[in-house]
Amino acid sequence: MAKRYLSASWKKSMRLRLDYKNMMSEFVGEKEGLTPKAISAYRKAAAGAVENLKQNRGKGWLGWTELPYNQTEIVKDIKETARKIRKTAKNFVVLGIGGSALGPIAVFQALCHLHYNELPARTRKGPKFYVEDNVDPERMDALFDVIDVENTVFNVITKSGATSETMTQYLVIIDRLKAKLGKDYKDRIIATTSASAGNLIKIAASEGFKTYYIPDGVGGRFSELCPVGLLPAAVLGIDISEMLAGAAYMDKISMKKSVSENAPLLNAILQDIAMKRGKNISVMMPYADGLKYFADWYCQIWAESLGKETDLDGNTVNYGQTPVKSLGVTDQHSQVQLYTEGPFDKVVTFLAVDNYRKEVVIPSGCEEFPDVNFLCGHTMNELITAERLATEYALTAKHRLNHTIYLPEINAFTIGELIYYFEMQTAFAGEFLKIDAYNQPGVENGKKATFALLGRRGFEEKRKELDEAFKKKSEYNC
Ligand code: PA5
Repeated sequence: MAKRYLSASWKKSMRLRLDYKNMMSEFVGEKEGLTPKAISAYRKAAAGAVENLKQNRGKGWLGWTELPYNQTEIVKDIKETARKIRKTAKNFVVLGIGGSALGPIAVFQALCHLHYNELPARTRKGPKFYVEDNVDPERMDALFDVIDVENTVFNVITKSGATSETMTQYLVIIDRLKAKLGKDYKDRIIATTSASAGNLIKIAASEGFKTYYIPDGVGGRFSELCPVGLLPAAVLGIDISEMLAGAAYMDKISMKKSVSENAPLLNAILQDIAMKRGKNISVMMPYADGLKYFADWYCQIWAESLGKETDLDGNTVNYGQTPVKSLGVTDQHSQVQLYTEGPFDKVVTFLAVDNYRKEVVIPSGCEEFPDVNFLCGHTMNELITAERLATEYALTAKHRLNHTIYLPEINAFTIGELIYYFEMQTAFAGEFLKIDAYNQPGVENGKKATFALLGRRGFEEKRKELDEAFKKKSEYNC
């Protein structure tokens, strides 16, 4: 079958577009709005940021920039593995957390039927899909009410190979598998992990599990376009080559030095100006249920990458913008009141879709009720679009910064573009803030405290510190 992503004109027709007029003083008012002059002031810094990324492509923590290009053999292997799983397994379960789960969830929601697991097997043509990204015992237990482990393939994903949550899930699953299948459990597990670090790689080698590698320079939240996301997507029947083609297309755009031609760079500039003017909250509001969990994925990459105590020179900066997920139109009825009239501390990013994959006509009826009847004859597509435009208008009228990213439609190519767009936007924002966007020291203390509480060797001192802290807390119990 002809690959549409090889056609230059098709790719152009699928290009994401950024409309940022509602960030500008001309539209949102002088007090809040940004000026063309403020954006032009970034020209040198922007060119420097692009140059830096160009010079360091594929190096250090920029390994993710090469993923659209350097996985030909892996993609072949993944497609073959996925083909077998689609034929034989009834369920495919991802065990992972954070960057090892949010991408697979987002892509599943975006590119599969919105009630995928409830579809009959002959329509699905592949296994049911679950992502277990928590250690809530009720949820873990509930999984076993809807799957039979012997007909399930489990994909254990952890970059560090040491994350307690994921390894706990692994232990629970392996125990169930052994109880059910004796020695024949090995082909029910696929490990996706770092080749060079952690325990999972050692376990996988000694057990003989099929293993995919997360390249060294690809951090958890930048890993959706490596086997972390590619294997689950391929098992779901998604064209992963098209997804990578979308990412490659966005990569070319992201390497342009001219700000007006480089939307991720421009958006990073807009957010940087806004952040430095006290807009501490970034709301991600897609107008499509398919993109609902893309907002979760965005929240992680934006929060964990930019939320930093110190800059690269060691100065205390306490940077970051709190990401908030919101869904249009659902959250118009819960959050938009705040966005329109609350504090001036937000930038709202709308995700709009030009062409939804389905059209639903609102049928005629309720003739005696004109306030209902006016809807008849329109489509739900027109309604959701009108509601988004109306919300953009209402925010702008109240001088609230907002901008819209348009997806011509939701498909594997545009989702690849979108993922890469926000990876690049985050990288550029990190450059402007002069911080390390790829570490997460703030997560460490909590991890160590968990180890201490569960008695891991080497964390005895931490345990004493915690016992002390908990003692003090009891004085304030009510
Ligand atoms: O972005 C990150 O590095 C983190 O959010 C990780 O993805 C998360 O902590 C899970 O780590 P791991 O994949 O090592 O289990």
